[in-house]
Amino acid sequence: MKKLAAGNWKMNGSTAALAEVEALIAAHPAPGCEMLLCPPATLISAMAARATGAALKVGGQDCHAKASGAHTGDLSAAMLLDAGASHVILGHSERRADHGGSSELVRAKAGAALAAGLIAIVCLGETEAERDAGATLAVIGAQLDASLPAGATAATLVIAYEPVWAIGTGRTPTLDQITEVHSFLRARLSGLIGAEAAGTRLLYGGSVKPSNAAEIFALADVDGALVGGASLKAADFGAIVAALSAA
Ligand code: 13P
Repeated sequence: MKKLAAGNWKMNGSTAALAEVEALIAAHPAPGCEMLLCPPATLISAMAARATGAALKVGGQDCHAKASGAHTGDLSAAMLLDAGASHVILGHSERRADHGGSSELVRAKAGAALAAGLIAIVCLGETEAERDAGATLAVIGAQLDASLPAGATAATLVIAYEPVWAIGTGRTPTLDQITEVHSFLRARLSGLIGAEAAGTRLLYGGSVKPSNAAEIFALADVDGALVGGASLKAADFGAIVAALSAA
């Protein structure tokens, strides 16, 4: 499978930031992994226009579960596709916390994403209190079971393991802890989608930077990363792309 370096710009970036995208494309015309950036929805069209013909894909950060209707402020999966997105991040812990996103809602959104022809990046992760209580695998397993849409395949689903306490903190799990979760996820996934699990990309996310990328990408069952802060600058994200291409 081709590995995936995915960047989540969160609520960062205006038109001026597209210069970083041009720099990234110029520096990595043919990376040895897939490159994806998920900017705020306001930038999807403009970023997709710059990515045309380049080895960069563009994604959204959330979508509504419904195809259309009276949902002020929301975006449907088809709208993201129409704007030039190929992927959508769903169930990010910041959305789960700020907008009450349950795993059941994530599943509905992921189903809508697949129906529209988008690839769903489903995020999972434990809080620090859950890890301290020894509940990490139970929490992640329950999130996975409840979040997966019907009919998901290796081509339409990506899973991102993002420990909540590692996001934006500069702290990361130990390599053993990442390995434990990723091998657990692979096995659990095979119980849910069978043989498709082997080819489904499992991303690690949470304080990935150029300095720790190579050691994380060397781990079994880590098929890429979902990168926040370090995806905003072409130099940093490019270094992560290079590390993944070399892994
Ligand atoms: P940071 O890389 O900034 O820790 O963010 C991770 C993340 O939440 C990506 O979705």
